[in-house]
Amino acid sequence: MHTGRPGQWSDVGRLAQEYAEETCHAHTTTHAASRTAAGPGSHTTTHAGSRTAAGPGSHTTTHAGSRTAAGPGSHTTTHAASRTAAGPGSRTCPTHERRSTPMTNTDVLAAGMADRELIVRLAFGSMAAQTLRAAARLRVVELIGDAQRRAADVAADAGAEHQPMTRLLRALTGLGLLEEHTPDTFSVTPAGALLSSERPDSLTSLVRLLTEPVLVRAWEHLDGSIRTGDIAFDTVFGTDFFTHLAQHPELSLVFNAAMSQAAGETAAALPSAFDFGRFTTITDVGGGDGTLLAGILDAHPALAGVLYDTADGLAQAPEKLQQRGLTERCSLIAGDFFRSVPKGSDLYLIKSVLHDWTDEQAVTILSHCREVLPPGGRVLIVEPVLPDVVTTTAQSHAADGGITYLSDLNMLVNVGGRERTRKDFEEVCHRAGLSLTSVTPLAEATPYSLIEAVAD
Ligand SMILES: C[S@@+](CC[C@H](N)C(=O)[O-])C[C@H]1O[C@@H](n2cnc3c(N)ncnc32)[C@H](O)[C@@H]1O
Repeated sequence: MHTGRPGQWSDVGRLAQEYAEETCHAHTTTHAASRTAAGPGSHTTTHAGSRTAAGPGSHTTTHAGSRTAAGPGSHTTTHAASRTAAGPGSRTCPTHERRSTPMTNTDVLAAGMADRELIVRLAFGSMAAQTLRAAARLRVVELIGDAQRRAADVAADAGAEHQPMTRLLRALTGLGLLEEHTPDTFSVTPAGALLSSERPDSLTSLVRLLTEPVLVRAWEHLDGSIRTGDIAFDTVFGTDFFTHLAQHPELSLVFNAAMSQAAGETAAALPSAFDFGRFTTITDVGGGDGTLLAGILDAHPALAGVLYDTADGLAQAPEKLQQRGLTERCSLIAGDFFRSVPKGSDLYLIKSVLHDWTDEQAVTILSHCREVLPPGGRVLIVEPVLPDVVTTTAQSHAADGGITYLSDLNMLVNVGGRERTRKDFEEVCHRAGLSLTSVTPLAEATPYSLIEAVAD
C-alpha cells in the first residue's frame, strides 16, 4: 500500500506502537505521525492526526495536529486540535504522560515528513485516479503487453504524442503500475496488468466508472451534502443516479461492466462460503449482469436461479449467462424492487444494493423479499458491515484500506444511500419483518460480510 519511502512508514508504525504501549494505559489512545522539531536533549510528546470514536463510558485520549519547536533541555508536552467523537460519559484526557525515552531527531523528522507526505499523497489522489483513467482510455497496458516497449511505439499505436506519452508512462511507473528499464522503455507490473481490458479479472471498467466526470461532479459538492444531507448528484443533474443511467445507455454500460468486475472477487469466494445446498432456487435481487449468480450456479449444479433487475441492469445478462452455459438454469425477470420481488425462490440474495438506498427504501426492498419468502426461506445480504468504531488496524487496512468509508461518502453524494453497521442492518431487517441470524465476514481479503436473515 505504501510505496516510495518504506523506511518512513515503518518508523511511523513503530512510533505509533511505542506511544500506544507507553501512554494513557487506562484509556483508548490513538497516536500517529507527529510533526515536531525538538532540540537536543529536549523531551517532547506530540501526537498528530488521530481519529478516535469511542462508545459510551469509554475514555479517549487524542492529540492531534501539534507542531512544536523546543530548545535544548526543554520539556514540552503539546496537545492540539484533537478530533474526537466520544459517546456520553466519555472524557478526554487533559494531560498526557511523557514518553520514557526521548524521540531522536531522526525519529521526529521521519514522523513529521511522513505526516506531510500522507496529506500531500491524499491531495494528489484525484490526479492519480485520472492518470489511471487516461491509461485505460489510451489502452497503454494492452499496447505494452507482456514485453518491454518503447514509449515512442506505444505513442504511435495509441495515436498520441511521444513526449506526453513518456510522461504518462513515467507517472504510471511512479504509481507502481509500470516499470521503466532503460530510459523510455517500459513494462507492466502485476498490479498494472489489471488495467488490461483483455483479462478476465480486469478492473478497467471499475476505474472508468469511479473516474467518470458524472460521478466526480457530484463529489465536488461533498461539503454541501455533508451540510444538508442532500444527494449532490440529484442537485447537479436534476434527476437521480439510476434514472440518469437509464437515460444514458453508454454510461449504463460502463456502470454494469464496473459492477460485474467488482463482483468478480465475491463470485469467487461466496459459493464455498455459504451453505447454498439447503436451497432449491435463488433470486439475485438487483443482480446486474449475473456475474455473482453465475458463480453460485456454477458451483452448485442443483440450484436454479432467477436474476431480477431493471431492464437496463439486465442488458448484458443474456450474453453473460449464455457464455457460462447457464441459460437453461437461470431466468431473467425485469422489474422494480420498490414495487415487488418475484416469488418462487427460497433464497433471496441482495449484494451491494441496500447501500444504494436510505433506510426507508432499504426497508421497502427487504419487505418485498419478506412478502414472498416461503417457510424456511432466507434473505442473504452481501455488503460491508461497518464496525461500531472506525478501526484502522493492519487487518482492516488489508481488507479494504478504508475504502468502505469512502464508499459510504460516495453513496451519500451520488445515490443517497449509506454503508451500515450490524445494528443498522438489524434495524432495517427488523422493520421489514426479518430477523438477522448471523453476520459472517466473507473472506479476509474482501470487505464484505454475509448477513443472513429469516422471517420473524
Ligand atoms: C450497485 S449495483 C449492484 C449489482 C450487483 N448486485 C453486484 O453486486 O454487482 C445495484 C443494482 O441495482 C439495480 N437496481 C437499481 N434500481 C433498481 C430497481 N428499482 N429495481 C430493481 N433493480 C434496481 C441496478 O440496475 C444495479 O444492477
